[in-house]
Amino acid sequence: MPEASPGSPSSDRARLAILLSGRGSNFLAIDRAIRRGSLPAEIVLVLSDRREAPGLVEAERLGLPTACVPPEAGNGGRRRQEERVEAEIRASGADWICLAGYMRLLSADFVAAFRLRIVNIHPSLLPAFPGLGAQRQALEHGVRVSGCTVHLVDEGLDSGPIVAQRAVPVEDHDDADRLSARILEQEHLAYPEALRRLLTEAWSLRGRRVVFASRPER
Ligand code: GRF
Repeated sequence: MPEASPGSPSSDRARLAILLSGRGSNFLAIDRAIRRGSLPAEIVLVLSDRREAPGLVEAERLGLPTACVPPEAGNGGRRRQEERVEAEIRASGADWICLAGYMRLLSADFVAAFRLRIVNIHPSLLPAFPGLGAQRQALEHGVRVSGCTVHLVDEGLDSGPIVAQRAVPVEDHDDADRLSARILEQEHLAYPEALRRLLTEAWSLRGRRVVFASRPER
């Protein structure tokens, strides 16, 4: 993994490591975008902390390189697990890490080791409703609009610089499942699109802002 610099587009296809713990629908959306030719990247690793994660099973079925690194018990277990994750990522030659429903917090050391090269998707319009149960938090708060956020990962919880957001309405009779499904549809568009921009456009960080060099079309 090269030393991170805010983005300059590369002519080579980016090498993605996907980290997931569950269903894997965002991973599959990224995979579909690559296969369609709309995301110039290659998935070099799908890693999960749970052997039974449907996303990991699906990656195996697709013939992608996979790894399972389960949690370790006891003193120092979290650090050892993370070191194994880091070793798998380094061995894969990945230059970007895409969190796609990976349910483990990353340590500050891990984030520093892959600075500005870890991307996450979160099911709310950050900075509103970070952490678990974002859709339920949004419903309980009574917001009329929610959505999803693709962001670069920093040491905080869902607090890194925002790359893209997509909004959806919250309807009067929504429950968490209905709202989650409406947001998920947008996640599947937002994540590949945000990655495409990060990988193919020049961009920089101005304070917390991710600024792309290209102007939006008028
Ligand atoms: C998504 O809602 C994502 O925003 C959150 O975890 C969920 C993962 O879903 N970080 P999936 O495993 O990609 O289907």
